[in-house]
Amino acid sequence: DPNVIPYEMIGGEKTIRKLVKAFYARVRIHPDLAPIFPGDWDETERKQYMFLTQFLGGPPLYSQEFGHPMLRARHLPFPVTPKRAEAWLSCMQQAMNDIKLEGDIRQYIWERLVQTAHHMINSNDE
Ligand code: HEM
Repeated sequence: DPNVIPYEMIGGEKTIRKLVKAFYARVRIHPDLAPIFPGDWDETERKQYMFLTQFLGGPPLYSQEFGHPMLRARHLPFPVTPKRAEAWLSCMQQAMNDIKLEGDIRQYIWERLVQTAHHMINSNDE
């Protein structure tokens, strides 16, 4: 149903919290991803929770605190290679499995994340 907001469809705050937690549990042990993160995982998780909330049509939590996301620009300090984009997406796919996010809504969210992840690439593989 295109009239339903993805944020509502998946169960809002509770589901996004679970997804973000499951996602960073994987990112923080991924050999290609973990080294490029600042190491303040609580803060990274908090930002991603706020971003995904608004990305999926919930309240604009991220912009209220940080302004326009400008995601590509905010990623420029970090070398996002094609390999790391695939690793990021792999962690997200597994996180979706972990929390049992299924169906058309999963597919819709997944496609938007694939697009966004590819847009973040700013470096070549070594
Ligand atoms: C921040 C890596 C894709 C959303 C970050 C940070 C790193 C990173 C290292 C800094 C963390 C911090 O400041 O705490 C990557 C890599 C990606 C990727 C390797 C692979 C393609 C994405 C995608 C999204 C996203 C697809 C959105 C769906 C964010 C947000 C922040 C962030 C919202 C916080 C920005 C800020 O306020 O500074 N990312 N990211 N990232 N990332 Fe990504």
